[in-house]
Amino acid sequence: MRDNLAPSVSLDFLDGYLFRLLQEIAAQEGLEKSGLLNYYGSRIANRIGGLIEYEEGLARYLLNEYPGYRVVHAGMGVGTLACALACNGMTVAGVEAYGERVRSARRLRSALVEVWPEVADRYQIVEGSYPQALMGIPKAGWRPWRRSSPANPWLDVNAILVFTNVVSTWSDETQAAIFDSMPRFGEVILDLRLFGIQRDDDTERLALFDRIAESARSAERLPGLSSGSHFARFMFGSVAAVLSAAASAALDLVTVAGDLLVVMA
Ligand SMILES: C[S@@+](CC[C@H](N)C(=O)[O-])C[C@H]1O[C@@H](n2cnc3c(N)ncnc32)[C@H](O)[C@@H]1O
Repeated sequence: MRDNLAPSVSLDFLDGYLFRLLQEIAAQEGLEKSGLLNYYGSRIANRIGGLIEYEEGLARYLLNEYPGYRVVHAGMGVGTLACALACNGMTVAGVEAYGERVRSARRLRSALVEVWPEVADRYQIVEGSYPQALMGIPKAGWRPWRRSSPANPWLDVNAILVFTNVVSTWSDETQAAIFDSMPRFGEVILDLRLFGIQRDDDTERLALFDRIAESARSAERLPGLSSGSHFARFMFGSVAAVLSAAASAALDLVTVAGDLLVVMA
């Protein structure tokens, strides 16, 4: 059973661990004060688990397809998906606007760090509204040769922007800012049914798909990711940008090697 806890951390194990933590938060603070509300309350009452089906499907997909990438989960709720990714080696920023949920997300993160200390460096909680909240994060380890030098570590071709269930009352301005932010990432993955408004009709989902695909390098729908979900993937990072990112990474390596030589000398 020790394998459940070792990297990679079993998603089944995490499902139970997160479920118990959600139960504790609900019991100690109540659904309202903790921000769990009925959305997470139903996971507890109906004994669904800490991870809902599409989160597990998406976590498996991201872990298989994007090793080494960073993930920004916009509207992450209490961050159950972020926990699954960070425990399994991905670096994640979870952006959440609802203060009570952010507090509960911090509790989950702390409980994770107690078991897996390495998660502390891999999982950052950003409180506020996406995209504005993400824009102000300073970039650590700035490299002057990076012409594409992002304003922060999250907005670049090695990061993936993810939206899961974000049916929300976005103003036109927020919605426009969200669409405008997409090309700053390497890829964007979202559920076409649950983005901004609920789109139960496939014609509506296709219209959203076409709207985003218009500015992307390529796009595809991901019907196999999780039954009942309508995920799609949009690729923005141009080939040139990906190559330039690889060149930057190589220069970073040279720098690190240089630093090591200096230390050894
Ligand atoms: C229904 S919950 C779902 C949480 C999570 N995405 C999931 O799939 O379980 C949607 C969350 O998105 C958050 N949200 C919506 N728009 C947001 C935005 N622009 N920036 C940050 N959080 C946002 C809401 O506060 C809410 O907690």
